[in-house]
Amino acid sequence: MSPTRSAASAAATAAAIRATALREALENHNYQYYVLDQPSVSDAEYDGLFRELQALEAQHPELLTPDSPTQRVGATPSTAFAPVTHRAPMLSLNNGFTEADVENFDRRVREGLDRTTVDYAVEPKFDGLAISMTYEDGVLVRGATRGDGYVGEDVTANLRTIAAIPLRLKGKNAPPMIEVRGEVLMLKRDFEALNAQQAAAGERLFINPRNSAAGALRQLDPKVTVSRKLHFFAYGIGAVDWGASAEPATHAALMQRLADWRFPVAAERAVVKGLAGLFDYYRRLGEARASLPFDIDGVVYKVDDLAQQATLGYVSRAPRFAIAHKFPAEEMITEVLDIGVQVGRTGALTPVARLQPVFVGGVTVTSATLHNEDEVRRKDVRIGDSVVVRRAGDVIPEVVRALIEKRSGAEREFVMPAKCPVCGSQVERLADEAASRCTGGLVCGAQRKQALLHFASRRAIDIEGLGEKIVDQLVEGNLVRTPADLYKLGVAALAALERMADKSAANLHAGIDKSRKTTLARFIYALGIRHVGETTAKDLAQYFGGIDALMAADETALLEVRDVGPVLAASIRQFFVEPHNQQVIAELRAGGVTWPETERTVVAGGKLTGLTFVLTGTLPTLSRDSAKELIEAHGGKIAGSVSKKTSYVVAGEEAGSKLDKANELGVAVMDEAQLLEMIR
Ligand code: IVH
Repeated sequence: MSPTRSAASAAATAAAIRATALREALENHNYQYYVLDQPSVSDAEYDGLFRELQALEAQHPELLTPDSPTQRVGATPSTAFAPVTHRAPMLSLNNGFTEADVENFDRRVREGLDRTTVDYAVEPKFDGLAISMTYEDGVLVRGATRGDGYVGEDVTANLRTIAAIPLRLKGKNAPPMIEVRGEVLMLKRDFEALNAQQAAAGERLFINPRNSAAGALRQLDPKVTVSRKLHFFAYGIGAVDWGASAEPATHAALMQRLADWRFPVAAERAVVKGLAGLFDYYRRLGEARASLPFDIDGVVYKVDDLAQQATLGYVSRAPRFAIAHKFPAEEMITEVLDIGVQVGRTGALTPVARLQPVFVGGVTVTSATLHNEDEVRRKDVRIGDSVVVRRAGDVIPEVVRALIEKRSGAEREFVMPAKCPVCGSQVERLADEAASRCTGGLVCGAQRKQALLHFASRRAIDIEGLGEKIVDQLVEGNLVRTPADLYKLGVAALAALERMADKSAANLHAGIDKSRKTTLARFIYALGIRHVGETTAKDLAQYFGGIDALMAADETALLEVRDVGPVLAASIRQFFVEPHNQQVIAELRAGGVTWPETERTVVAGGKLTGLTFVLTGTLPTLSRDSAKELIEAHGGKIAGSVSKKTSYVVAGEEAGSKLDKANELGVAVMDEAQLLEMIR
């Protein structure tokens, strides 16, 4: 070996030794700081060691390992999270809410094990996100979200940024393969700091630690994840190959093993005896809840003995050996400042109580849904009332009850507005529905996107290429307010949309143009009248034959149509009497939307069924064609010449030989007014 080479190799060996020492030191400091919450060095010292290791690894790339502390933020942003199949499925826990639920759980466990009393491992139920991390020969190789329990998303790069997660299991005898299961969460103090930072920057505030943790974990750029300061607690394992190392016999021993490998585990964990032990722990943790550094939503009881767990096994997707005992949803008292209404995407008006802000269930609540008018009456919630509000988990905050004894007499009752607060259209409530609705389906800003998407959908007017992203842009850019506006769009306006190539703009424009030629049934369906599906639209088209007749039809006329009952008739009528909707229909027709008039067909059970008509002369208002269509639409037949079989001759001005023939044969003669009277 040449002197230089051996010198180089000696340097490399020294570098390798130093790198190992630095990694060890950094991991120790990390653990002290993030897991034990007892910093052992100053930030500056830590940074010094970290930079030294970075420099060494830059000089000697062969020393770089995936479990090096410098690799926590090594990955580049990805565009998606690849699917990961869990080796053992990630199941869920059955929930218990009452003492009786827990008694039943304990009884079933004792019966299943044929024992009088059972030892339970008890621990907090962390309110975060379940993840599974695979370690092979002690090194973290993959981390995934729970997903559907069988297949999750690969979030390895983001999990690596969580300082509390070991990249390598501490100590010798790491198992060849193990899936470590636990919960990713954000500590309350980090959540508060994050929101303070957001507020200072004038950015949107996060709702609660759980939501911000969820958002951080699913960041495509790990640099964003690291800035959010996530934490982790291990609570179990999935698939495992213990290899040469001894298998733990109890859950408590397993937790100790995880702690030895340097996973954070709940300091609050314990092993208790029987039902009394469970209840005692539940009470104690309930009392400690507010002062814990993280959110919990209950406690988890697990049969401690792993062999006993195996005996009990699983039922459907949850273990028989464990249960989550949930804390009751938190309730607080606050004041109703006002009751407003919110208009949803389908036009439903929901009364919403605006509240004096109150911190409940981990978030500041400023409003709560009152669902509908009946609910407001049933709970008798009034503006100015003191109310009890509740929020559980991710559930929308709700008003539990009004404190009637606190009323001063100045409280005001809620009145559902008669006009939609968004578009000013009439508000209606159908007989069989709890919800009041805005009838301005085609014009209402709250319903706009939904209405456009429906209008353009394949079974409706069928505009190829008009999807959600484009509708969003068209509406948000104020280019389109109603479906009629679509027919006013030029190619240039479309080409100016985000990510829209000239070619696609031309295609979309052609698609819009093509949709002008449609059918009456499609047109009716496209209007998005509540309760009017494709079949009803076809029946309406067939019965009325034209949009004018349909728009003019009152509820009695509508009830004549096959399968149209009172609710549907009312809904259709309400839609067409709304002037805003009439205007859009007129604009659509002016914009060139047409349909062939051949759809006007005979209806069984029409008023003219079985009758044969002959038309002669010029009628005062109806053209020859429209009179023919009208008669046919009501079940009548048209004949070209008068015979004994003719039921009526409809005669107008300058009627000729046909009128003479009718008189000759004694066939009844009527004018237009009499004809219209017959079908009214
Ligand atoms: S054990 C077979 N222990 O609760 C299920 N789960 O409903 C094993 N959770 O998705 C789960 N704290 O994310 C277990 N100490 C704890 C837990 C815990 C929170 C979550 C977990 C799971 C859900 C089950």
